[in-house]
Amino acid sequence: MRKTYLVTGGAGFIGSNFIHYLLKKYQDILVVNVDKLTYAGNLENLSEVMNDKRHFFVQADICDQQAIEKLFIEHKIDYVVNFAAESHVDRSITDPDVFVRTNVMGTLNLLNIAKTHWKTGDDTYRKGVKFQQVSTDEVYGSLGLEGFFTETTPLDPHSPYSASKASADLFVKAYYDTYKFPMNITRCSNNYGPYQFPEKLIPLMINNCLNKKSLPVYGDGLQVRDWLYVEDHCKAIDLVLRNGRIGEVYNVGGHNERTNIFVVKSIIDYVSKQVDSTVSEKLIKHVTDRKGHDRRYGIDPTKIKEELGWEPETTFEEGIKLTIQWYLEHKEWMDHITSGSYQHYYEQMYGNR
Ligand code: NAD
Ligand code: DAU
Repeated sequence: MRKTYLVTGGAGFIGSNFIHYLLKKYQDILVVNVDKLTYAGNLENLSEVMNDKRHFFVQADICDQQAIEKLFIEHKIDYVVNFAAESHVDRSITDPDVFVRTNVMGTLNLLNIAKTHWKTGDDTYRKGVKFQQVSTDEVYGSLGLEGFFTETTPLDPHSPYSASKASADLFVKAYYDTYKFPMNITRCSNNYGPYQFPEKLIPLMINNCLNKKSLPVYGDGLQVRDWLYVEDHCKAIDLVLRNGRIGEVYNVGGHNERTNIFVVKSIIDYVSKQVDSTVSEKLIKHVTDRKGHDRRYGIDPTKIKEELGWEPETTFEEGIKLTIQWYLEHKEWMDHITSGSYQHYYEQMYGNR
C-alpha cells in the first residue's frame, strides 16, 4: 500500500539523504518535505528530486500550527519522520532559546497535530501510522574510557542542544505512555557523508584542508565520537519505521569510535596523498575547548541488530574516503554554502583564535 511520509527538516543533512534513500528504494510513495530553510537547510541538497512527483516540498516552520495542520488535511499522512532541529552544539552554547523553540516546541506541535489527525477513538489510531523522532546519543551524556550507551542508560544531557533533544524525547515517550500514541525514537551517533553543513567536524576539516586554512581542534583532540556513514543511519530509520515495535527506543551506531585528532589526521592524510601534497599536519591548531565538552560517546547497537537485523555496512575507512571524494566532486555546493552568512559564523567562531 502506498505510504505518505511527512519528513521534517528534509532540506538538511540527514533529512535530504533520507529522502534520496526513500525515493530510490520505494516506487509507490509520497514524501511531503517540510523545512523552514534555516541556515542549515539547502534545497540544492534535493536538486535531483525537486521535479520528482513523489516529492513535494513545503517551506514552513514545524512550530507553525496552521501550516502543519494544512499538510495533514491535504495529505493522508502515514508516517512522520521528525528530523527538523537546531542541530549544532556550539550554536546551542551561544543561543539556546531557538533550540528549545524548534526542538521542543516544534516537536510538541507535530505530536499534537498527528495525534488529532490519526485518532480513531480513545487511545486508538489509524492502522499503520507512526511518528518517528530522530534523536541522538548525546541525550545520554558522556562516557568514560569504557562502556556503551544502551536504550536504558539514564538520560544525562550536558549541552543546551542535548537538553532540548532529551526534552523532546520525553514528550514523545509521554505521548506513548499517556495516549498510546504510535511512536519510535531512534538515538544515533555522529553521522557524516554528503550534504553535511561545514560547521560540523568532518566537512569543516575537509573544506579547510582544501583551502589550506588552519584546522581548529578543540582542546587535546582526544574526545571520542562513534562515526556512522549517513546512509547506514537512513537504513536504520527506514527499518524502525517499518518494523520497530511501537513505543520502543532504538540506539543506532556501529562501533566506529575514533578520537577527533585521528579523524582530522585521516582527512589530512587522504587530501595530501590524493589532492595536494603540501597539505600537512602543520595546519592543525589546538584551540580553546568547547564548554561542557562531552568526552566520549559509544553506542551499543545490540537491540536494533537483534530485533531488526540492522548492521552498518560502511566502515569508517571506506566512509571517510567516500565523503572526501563527494566534497571534491561537489565544490560548487560547498562554494554556495560557504558564501554569505557562513563567513560571518566562521569568523566569530575561529577568527580570533
Ligand atoms: P541539519 O542542521 O543539517 O538539518 C536540520 C534541518 O532542519 C535544516 O534543513 C533546517 O532548515 C531544518 N529546520 C530547522 N528548524 C526548523 C523549523 N523550526 N521548522 C522546520 N525546519 C527546520 O541537521 P542534521 O545533522 O541533518 O540532523 C537531523 C536530525 O538528526 C536532528 O534532529 C538531529 O538532532 C539528529 N541527529 C543528528 C546527528 C548528526 O550527526 N548530524 C546524529 C544523530 C541525530
Ligand atoms: O552524537 C550525535 C551528534 O553529533 C548530533 O546529535 C549533533 O547534531 C551533531 O552535531 C554531532 O554533535 P557533535 O558535537 O559530536 O559534532 P561536531 O561535528 O560539532 O563535533 C564533533 C567533535 O569534534 C566534538 O568532539 C567537537 C570536535 N570539534 C568540532 C568542531 C566543529 C573540533 O574539535 N573542532 C571543530 O571545529
